[in-house]
Amino acid sequence: MNPRFTNKRVLLTGGASGIGRATAERFAAEGARLAIGDIDVTGANAVAAELGGVAFAYDARDPAAAPQLVEQAVAALGGIDILLNVAGIMTWGRFEETSPESWQRTLEINLSGPFYLTQAAIPHLKQCKGNIVSVASAGGMHPVYGTSAYGISKAGVIAMTQSASLEFARFGVRVNAVAPGGVATPMHEKSTAGRGVDPAIFAEAAGRNMPKLTDRQACTPEEVAAAIAYLASNEARFATGTVLVLDGGQVTG
Ligand SMILES: NC(=O)c1ccc[n+]([C@@H]2O[C@H](COP(=O)([O-])OP(=O)(O)OC[C@H]3O[C@@H](n4cnc5c(N)ncnc54)[C@H](O)[C@@H]3O)[C@@H](O)[C@H]2O)c1
Repeated sequence: MNPRFTNKRVLLTGGASGIGRATAERFAAEGARLAIGDIDVTGANAVAAELGGVAFAYDARDPAAAPQLVEQAVAALGGIDILLNVAGIMTWGRFEETSPESWQRTLEINLSGPFYLTQAAIPHLKQCKGNIVSVASAGGMHPVYGTSAYGISKAGVIAMTQSASLEFARFGVRVNAVAPGGVATPMHEKSTAGRGVDPAIFAEAAGRNMPKLTDRQACTPEEVAAAIAYLASNEARFATGTVLVLDGGQVTG
């Protein structure tokens, strides 16, 4: 396959681990120049050093961090062609028991972070008819029991994708999302092992929302990276406002 991202300037968040790391690897393998923003700056630096990119400390909870990260990426790469909103956290907790702190943290990291980064990156993406891909979740379409704040935050990412696609299509900027079900990453491993989760909530959630494809329970981070790369590539140049679901049939089957 011909590399699809030769010299494309890609800003991605969450590149230190899981889906973000696999995505960084995929884009680098296809010729992209990478800037990674992550709260785990040590991990992000290690990935950037391995792949030949640059990394910056970035906390999605801080609204001021988004324009700063965009400025740093533009200074390092000379512009931004593609923004990939990957960083996120999983939180458990029944609706009535979700504390203001947990609600706020989940919404800030999973939704406000991508919102502010999209705002900050748009002027640069308009200059080169660039595009954005965000990682939502199947849980934003078909919630998992006991994860209401998470599901609501990811439903917000889907609505953000669709709203932004409406406003930016006239500038030639595409905005899309992927919505995975389970993905075999550190986040998923912790969650499916029930670590840090109220056992009563976990028992209620277990066995529900399972993929209909029975050969395995989760997709790989590389499969999600491939879907992100497709949406960000010219092969998807007529796709905007699209949510590509990768859930083994959990929502769609
Ligand atoms: N793993 C799954 O089953 C699954 C399913 C659907 C969607 N997702 C979504 O995929 C994305 C990546 O998840 P993953 O499974 O690779 O998890 P992961 O825990 O392996 O990686 C998450 C990354 O985000 C970074 N991060 C966390 N908080 C941050 C903050 N405040 N500011 C900046 N960076 C921060 C972490 O340091 C890490 O590098 C998330 O948005 C997640 O919600 C994951």
